[in-house]
Amino acid sequence: MSKIADESAVSQPILHAPFIDPQNNYFLEVIWFVSWGVGLSSQLKFRSLSVEDADWIAEVENDPETAKYYISVYPRTEHEIRESVKKWLEDGREKQLVAELDGEPAGCVSVGPSTGRSRHVAWLGIFVRRKHWGKGVGSALTEEAVKLAKALGCRRLMLGTTEGNDRAMNLYKKFGFEIETHVSEEAYVDGCWRKSYIMGLELTPCEPKISESLADSKMPFSSPEKSVANVVVKQLMDGDLEQIHRLQNCPESTKSSRKIPPITKEQTKKWYEALKSMSGRHCLACFENNKLLGYLRFVARPLPYSNLNIEEMIVDVNERPEEAADALITAIKGFKERYGYRRIFGYIPQTSTAIVKALKNHGFKTNGAMKSYYFTDGYYVDVSSYEYP
Ligand SMILES: CC(C)(COP(=O)(O)OP(=O)(O)OC[C@H]1O[C@@H](n2cnc3c(N)ncnc32)[C@H](O)[C@@H]1OP(=O)(O)O)[C@@H](O)C(=O)NCCC(=O)NCCS
Repeated sequence: MSKIADESAVSQPILHAPFIDPQNNYFLEVIWFVSWGVGLSSQLKFRSLSVEDADWIAEVENDPETAKYYISVYPRTEHEIRESVKKWLEDGREKQLVAELDGEPAGCVSVGPSTGRSRHVAWLGIFVRRKHWGKGVGSALTEEAVKLAKALGCRRLMLGTTEGNDRAMNLYKKFGFEIETHVSEEAYVDGCWRKSYIMGLELTPCEPKISESLADSKMPFSSPEKSVANVVVKQLMDGDLEQIHRLQNCPESTKSSRKIPPITKEQTKKWYEALKSMSGRHCLACFENNKLLGYLRFVARPLPYSNLNIEEMIVDVNERPEEAADALITAIKGFKERYGYRRIFGYIPQTSTAIVKALKNHGFKTNGAMKSYYFTDGYYVDVSSYEYP
């Protein structure tokens, strides 16, 4: 198989769904008939989400039974939920469908296409009002979501669910979703820590996949042993923007992340300004004599998670990648210990060998991988989940 250097040369069609207009309105009315019990049947229709849906969504999110599994911070005000709905609609990237049962909103599904190296993947989210559970609304919404993801040109549909959510697991398995990986003890709810599963469904084959031998041949350059005395991890300063921009535009180094160069100066600045320690968004940066060797951006999640999530880790593959990866992971472990977070989670492609080696050296373990999650240099690459301890 020939290696295709330019991703844009490889066909990865993102089609425009015929039934989504530029204002994000779902205007093809699909009518389903759901039935339950003897002789009962109802009409189910689909429409796009609107800000007016915030009230019944607040009712769903603040239902303690739903909040056990559809985990966000609970309880939340209607105002807060309305602001979230507004943001989703303004952003427009994620598509949402509301199912109405006999004219009343009964549930909602979202299909959120990812970006960069995982732009062929969409993430699914779903909830149904408790009074309508078990009537087929979830199944009908999932079927529409699969159609929508296909129409958007996505090759994989993925989702996260929580241990013990048997209804949801059975629903997803019915549609062919398979568990690809899990992270242990992701959330603490009602007296126990729960695993979080990541499930995936292939809609269109993801070929070619990177082979193990090819992954090995893509080992980044490893510099000879040097003293690590000058390697320090510290906070980023405004004056480091040029260096961050340089690193974010290194085609080889960014393969451990979703980022695909070119990244504009404006995008780098926005990325930097999005770091807000008071809201739990942090970045550790590794320097040698004021030269940026790499960074690790992470989120300190609020209850019920109490974990640190590595969102992005990039090391300069030409400048002591192993030392930089080691120093950054030592630093995030220090942060975890200092503030008493429970675990550290991260998702790293199998081809990023310097980072993978450092994670393993530090006692991180993996439970599986999100299949074909990145598309890099013409190949689909699995992205492993790592957790510590
Ligand atoms: C999960 C959820 C969306 C399912 O919606 P629903 O409308 O009840 O789903 P359906 O009626 O279409 O049932 C779908 C499948 O779930 C399974 N199921 C239904 N009731 C079940 C129960 N009591 N226990 C276990 N599985 C059950 C069945 O496999 C069913 O398919 P089948 O009837 O063909 O056998 C809904 O329960 C919900 O909103 N839960 C709270 C929010 C949530 O957990 N969202 C998912 C987060 S990952």
